[in-house]
Amino acid sequence: MLDVARYSRLSRALHWLVALGIFSLLTFGVYLSFVESGTDKTRLVQVHKSFGVIIGLLAVIRIGWRTREGFASPLEGSHLWEWQLARRVQIAMLAATVAMPVSGILTSITYARPVAVFGVPVIPKLLDEKNATLNDLASTAHAGIAILLACLVAAHIGGALKHKLRMRHRA
Ligand code: HEM
Repeated sequence: MLDVARYSRLSRALHWLVALGIFSLLTFGVYLSFVESGTDKTRLVQVHKSFGVIIGLLAVIRIGWRTREGFASPLEGSHLWEWQLARRVQIAMLAATVAMPVSGILTSITYARPVAVFGVPVIPKLLDEKNATLNDLASTAHAGIAILLACLVAAHIGGALKHKLRMRHRA
């Protein structure tokens, strides 16, 4: 387990901001896959894309900050394998929080759509028409990384709960 008390206030604020954003976008994304195509869906996808780009930027800032600050050391009394596993899950989650918006942006580009954040253009329309093969690849990656990320989040929460329970037994 990791000694998270060592992390700075900014690190912890970024952690909770990105965590809340990822959780909301995962839920929203799953909901979107059940909505039928039409004007309403297009509007909802725009909202998803806008928040997705913002959370993606925060995730990049978070990785930069984490690289500067380093990773937490093992908690006293925890096994080495627990610390190694927790660290690997953490690194995979950091990578997935960036891979998620990148694959989302690629899904949009290959669908011949621009990317905007609440109306502010970020990436113009780059293709004249949808490239079905590349779009299939990008959207499969987007959905696949979403499943991976959800599993990593579950493992991360499981580890944190296990640690809390252990500390309570010791107290
Ligand atoms: C952390 C960021 C993001 C998360 C967690 C996320 C999550 C999801 C999930 C779970 C889905 C449903 C997957 C499926 O069943 O196919 C989805 C769909 C989608 N996402 Fe994201 N997404 C993120 C960022 C983005 C970004 C930045 C864009 C584009 C700029 C984007 C564009 C899309 C599109 C176009 C769909 C397909 C909607 C549909 O037609 O059903 N996403 N997203």
